[in-house]
Formats: sequence, structure tokens, C-alpha cells
Amino acid sequence: MEVASIPAKKKAKTNGMVVNKWTGKVYSRRYHEILEKRRSLPVWFQKDEFLQTLRNNQTVILVGETGSGKTTQIPQFVLEAVHVEAEKNPRKWLVGCTQPRRVAAMSVASRVAEEMDVSIGEEVGYTVRFEDCTSSRTVLKYLTDGMLLREAMTDPLLQRYKVIVLDEAHERTLATDLLFGLLKRVLRNRPDLKLVIMSATLEAKKFLEYFSGAPLMKVPGRLHPVEILYTQEPERDYLEAAIRTVVQIHMFEPPGDVLVFLTGEEEIEDACRKIVNKLGDQVNVVPLYSTLPPVMQQKIFDPSPENRRKVVVSTNISETSLTIDGIVYVVDSGFAKQKIYNPSNRVESLLVSPISQASAHQRAGRAGRTQPGKCFRLYTEKSFNHDLQSQTYPEILRSNLANTVLTLTKLGIDNLVCFDFMDPPAPQTLARALNDLVYLGALDDKGNLTKEGEMMSEFPLDPQMAKMLIVSPEFNCSNEILSVSAMLSVPNCFIRPKGEAQKEADEAKARFGHIDGDHLTLLNVYHAYKQNNEDMKWCYENFINHRAMKSADNVRKQLMKIMSKFNLKICSSDFNNPNYYVNIRKALLTGYFMQVAHLDRTGRYLTAKDDQVVHLHPSCCMDHKPEWVIYNEYALTSRNFIRTVTYIRGEWLLDVAPHYYHLPNFPNSETKRILEKLYNKRERKNLK
Ligand code: CDP
Ligand code: MG
Repeated sequence: MEVASIPAKKKAKTNGMVVNKWTGKVYSRRYHEILEKRRSLPVWFQKDEFLQTLRNNQTVILVGETGSGKTTQIPQFVLEAVHVEAEKNPRKWLVGCTQPRRVAAMSVASRVAEEMDVSIGEEVGYTVRFEDCTSSRTVLKYLTDGMLLREAMTDPLLQRYKVIVLDEAHERTLATDLLFGLLKRVLRNRPDLKLVIMSATLEAKKFLEYFSGAPLMKVPGRLHPVEILYTQEPERDYLEAAIRTVVQIHMFEPPGDVLVFLTGEEEIEDACRKIVNKLGDQVNVVPLYSTLPPVMQQKIFDPSPENRRKVVVSTNISETSLTIDGIVYVVDSGFAKQKIYNPSNRVESLLVSPISQASAHQRAGRAGRTQPGKCFRLYTEKSFNHDLQSQTYPEILRSNLANTVLTLTKLGIDNLVCFDFMDPPAPQTLARALNDLVYLGALDDKGNLTKEGEMMSEFPLDPQMAKMLIVSPEFNCSNEILSVSAMLSVPNCFIRPKGEAQKEADEAKARFGHIDGDHLTLLNVYHAYKQNNEDMKWCYENFINHRAMKSADNVRKQLMKIMSKFNLKICSSDFNNPNYYVNIRKALLTGYFMQVAHLDRTGRYLTAKDDQVVHLHPSCCMDHKPEWVIYNEYALTSRNFIRTVTYIRGEWLLDVAPHYYHLPNFPNSETKRILEKLYNKRERKNLK
């Protein structure tokens, strides 16, 4: 870390004592530069008021516009206050601040480490799934809400923490909602613990009622007016409209950066390419989405060289989680990828869907941070008023709750009906989750956690995947199932560029293809990567995403640790054993027997039990349509696709999941008749 000399004037002012209390080193010049900026953030003007309120209350609710300094400053204020106490009573106390998004946790932690003039991972660190960047020195930790929930499993009273800050509470993610209920209980048992709830929108009434008695502190934003412009007619293609709007802004509007809201990685990369094609290097185009490498993410904060106009094309991560300075124009497509769940057929899926009015307000607000701005909504005013719902539904009402129920059970909350949900999920959804967990063997008939369920809850994975890992030693293939699970837990490893190289990329992918399906193809890729010594050049030549492979390797290591903890054997069949792949496919099915589809006589796939028509996703590597398949993902787009698909045999269903494929409670369907035949065949064989 750079240790710059301090100008004489400053030294005099502070009696030459400008020493960082965390490192004992003299503050760098950069520290002082940032400090100037920090002091002008709205929250700084209410620092004393905030600390006073926190001293006098166990829970404080803080509401302030995005960009007012909540995420970066408040935890530091808290830390200062805690530290004063800790000096009197030298016990180690941690301040934790949750973030719904992994990217935000990492990026904000780096920023705050810089602000405090310490190295990331030392005094300031972060913990996200599969990555822990903290040390014994850490006093301020940013972590995803999901990780705090996991910590509560082993440390139910969260003893390590002195103060917990739940940030971005308005996002109402599933994990944050569970933390609300959980922390309410913890606070009753730990009078010394303090809780700060931070939110960007004024839906605070709900929080106030829920945390009754907690004071509300408002940080006035310093928003400039934002002019809202709607389209006259509905846009047929929002992507094309967005690109056209960016070009128009660049040609006709005064200087100022542009922020475009689209829905996902592919679309964003596509838009970036098209904008560059149209405007060349007149503008500086930067993408922003969660799977972007951290170095690239950092780029959005860099000022453009030579005052070129910056165009950030982002998912809704920039709606409130990350603040980019200098934005004057916002282009709002009106869409975001959102999780939806249909409990009647157990389909959870990410779907591009219209945003809420509240989201649209937030997006517009991004334009008025530094000066008056403009927001171009790519939909009509009528549509805004009549088609958009006023608030986004909390995630808990849009999710498969199997994982949630398992977590809560592990936390000792078995009477879910009595859990203090801010918005209780539908009983049908809870019942379905309980049922699924019984089928998976995680809960017994009375709803108690089984030994297997206990283990499943320790894996930071969906119960199905955890189950598959736990049973894999029985199929003598835990090595392979570890690799497949790791590959399924990271972003897509196949790079598929647009244009000429696409054919080449598809050919490269086909070389890894396994005729029995995508799970095995992923395994082939992982093996080839290891055989080629994790070589970056090899990845490049084979259109494989090196970063995805590196994280898969990391995930695999972490999962292996959990396996070892439970003494689950790490083993493989001999590769020449004719059952090598059969064993793997059977292990896959033991976890995913609820995600099976059957080919009917007309050549369509129907999901077992629910009879939904689904199609193999174009990315599927199989060149034929096997009668039975398992799938990893149900993707709702223009059609219902099943993605990452592998061939299994119908008879296995009777072996692996007889309780689920129990005919008397199977709905009448062609699939049922086929299963009947399989059962009869088996009986005849047994009689012989
Ligand atoms: O949480 P809130 O939206 O209230 O604000 P914040 O995230 O704490 O951001 C406060 C200021 O820090 C903004 O002006 C950001 O632009 C700046 N910041 C930054 O320059 N670099 C980062 N990586 C994060 C924040
Ligand atoms: Mg924030």
C-alpha cells in the first residue's frame, strides 16, 4: 500500500498524528482524497444523529436515496462507535453488513477497504458463497444475506456480531426476509446486539410496523429533477429501441453519461456490440452484470478518458445496489429478469418480465444524482399507469421454498406457520416444499429433520444437488458427481461468440459432447481442463471460459471439504467399467427424480406428474430424443425449455424413487401407463 508523505499543512492541523489506527501506518494521499468526497455524502451530515439513535435503540431503520452513502459509510460509522467500546472492553466485535447480491458485497467491500486505507481481506473483508475473503483481523465484513443465514445455522445467536446491518431491505430477497424474522428472535435473546435496517425506498411503513418501536431515520436525497419521457407507441423490440435511444441521446443531448437497463448478460453484450458498431469510439461502452469478472466490474466506476461519453449497459443491479456517478440519462427498457414460481407444477424460473412502478422510479432516479437529468422509458405512459404493478412482489412469494424450509428446520423453527414472516408465503407453497423434502428424505413424515437432511442443510446448494452428492459414494462416483455439481454451480463454461467464430465454437463444444447428455458433457469438459493442466490457452482455443473453470475448481474443493466432514467417501469407478456412466446417471437421478420428463407418442416431452409440455433447449448436446430424461433447469422463454438434460432409463425411477413414482397417487396420464408397464414387467421378472 502506498504511503504518501502528508503535506505539511495537514500534519500541523492534526498534530502530525495522521496515523491509521487499523494499520499503524500514515494515511495515503488517496485516503485523504476519498475522505473529501465522503464528507460531502448526505449521510455524513447526520452522522451524530445516527450514532445517537443507535445508542438509544436496539433496532434502527434508515431510509435514504441510492447514492447517499448508506452502504459504504454507515457500517464505518457503526464500526467507529463499536470500536470505542471495544477499546474499553477488548473483546473482538464484528460489524456485518448484508447485501442481496454477491457482486455488490465484493465491490463495496473493496471500496470500503480503500476508504479505510487497509487491504481487502484484512480489516475489511467479504464473504459470499464459495468465497471467504476475511481474516482473524476482520472487523467489518460485507456478506450476502444468504451467507449470514448460513452462519446462523452454526451460530444461532450470531455471537460473533455486535452490530448487523441489513442493507437493501427494500429488495425483499428471500434470504433478507428470513433474516428479518430470525433476527427479531435473536434480538430478544441478545440485548447487546444491534440491528440497522437500511432501505432505499419509502416503503418503510411496512418495516416500521414489523419492527414495532424501531425509530425511522431519513436521509434526504439530493436528487435533481428528472424529466420523464415515454414512447408514444408501445415498442415491439425493447432491445432495438434501447440502442436507437442511446444513439439519439449521443447525437442530440448535451454531455453526460448514459445508463441503460436491460435484462441479462447475453442481451447486454449484444447491445454493447451494436452500440459500438453504430458509434465507434465516440463513446465508452461498458457492460455490467453479475457474472462479469470483477476487474471489468470495476471499470464502470472509472471516469471515461478524454471526456468521452460513458454508456453503461446494466441489469437491474444498478437500480439500487451500485451507484455510478455522472449518469445524466437513463434508458429504461421496462423489463428485468425476475424469478417466478408456480407452486402447482413446482416450476421456478427466471423470466424476463415487466418491472414495477417502484422499480421504474428508482431507475429514473439514477439520472438525477449530479445534475438535472432525463429518463427515457421505452414504454407508454398508459402502460406505466395501467400495466405495471406498484411494487415488486417479495421474492418469498415467488420462490420454491424447499431450501428455505430446510434452512428454517435446521435453525430449529419447525412450526413454519408460526414463523414471523413479513409476508407469509402461500400455505400451498409451504406444503409443497415440505412434501419435496420428505420425498428427498430430508424430513421424516412428522416433519423432523433426518440425519440425511441434517447433512443436506450443510451444503450451500439446492436440496436436490446436496442429496445427489450425499448418495454418490453408494454409486461409487462421488468424484464425478462433485465435478458435475461444481460445473452446475458456476456460470456457463461454453463461450459462444456471435458472428463467424460461432460455428467454430459450436464445433469445439461438440468435441466435448457426450451422447447421453449435458451433465456428462460438463464432466468431459472438467476432465479435459484438468488433463490440460488448467491451461488458459487451452481454454481459449476450445471456447471454454477459463474463469468459470477456475471457479468450478474452487467450488469443487469447498464441496469436497463438506463431504469429508461427513466422512462421505470420495471415490470413482474404473473408467473402463461399463457401468462408469450408468452409475453417474443413476446418482444424478437420485437427486433429481422430481425433474424428469417423458417423451410421448407424438414426440413431445411431458414433465412427469405435472404433464407440462417442454422442449429440449437448443444448447442440448444430445442428437436424439431418449424416452426419459432428467433436467437441471426449466427455462421459460418464448417456449418452455428444459436445459442441461441427460438420458436416464425408466426402470431406474422404480429403483431410485419408488415413493415418488408410486402409482396410486400418480395423476392419470400416458406417463402413468408407461410406468405401470414398467412395474408389471418388473413383477413378471421377479416371478420368474
Ligand atoms: O448505499 P447508497 O446507495 O446510499 O450509497 P453508497 O453505495 O454508499 O455510495 C456512496 C458513494 O460512493 C457514491 O457516490 C458512489 O459513487 C461512491 N462509490 C464509489 O465511488 N465506488 C464504489 N465502488 C462504491 C461507491
Ligand atoms: Mg447501497
